[in-house]
Amino acid sequence: MVTIREARPADEARWRELWAGYTAFYKANVPETVTATTWARILDPLVPVFARLAEVGGVVAGFAVCIVHARTWSVEPIVYLEDLFVDPGVRGGGVGFALIEDLKQEARRLGACQLYWHTETDNERARRLYDRFQPADDYVRYRLSL
Ligand SMILES: CC(C)(COP(=O)(O)OP(=O)(O)OC[C@H]1O[C@@H](n2cnc3c(N)ncnc32)[C@H](O)[C@@H]1OP(=O)(O)O)[C@@H](O)C(=O)NCCC(=O)NCCS
Repeated sequence: MVTIREARPADEARWRELWAGYTAFYKANVPETVTATTWARILDPLVPVFARLAEVGGVVAGFAVCIVHARTWSVEPIVYLEDLFVDPGVRGGGVGFALIEDLKQEARRLGACQLYWHTETDNERARRLYDRFQPADDYVRYRLSL
């Protein structure tokens, strides 16, 4: 049984555990100041960043972190799903699916007209899940570090 809800201040310790698993998955060394800032942004209603948490058996077992932003091709904002992670112990049980289903509703509630995200081409597990929602498009990504 999966329940999806908003993030609250009391979730910080558990979110940080899952966040550590997520950054380890990407072999990324994320500085503490970045982690602290991201958590603060999630909780700050004035910052267009939000998180949705998945609870399984009363324990937070996954998260989605999103950014709401304006767009030149629509009047409505759109929602970018930046981070998605499920505790390895409960994977394959529909938690990731439930998080994305919830985001569709949450994005609509925020008045957005699109929910979008990226993943690595070889993240097969994630792509199997994502393909249930929508086939990938044929865009490629360019990034300049500044
Ligand atoms: C990718 C990730 C978030 C998926 O989470 P998950 O909880 O295992 O995903 P689900 O259990 O919802 O989906 C897994 C499978 O069940 C299917 N599924 C689950 N619930 C379903 C439902 N209600 N209806 C239809 N299909 C469903 C999915 O399509 C998928 O298919 P598969 O069995 O062929 O793999 C998780 O593996 C993870 O955290 N990976 C590491 C981090 C990562 O890669 N994040 C994404 C970065 S872009």
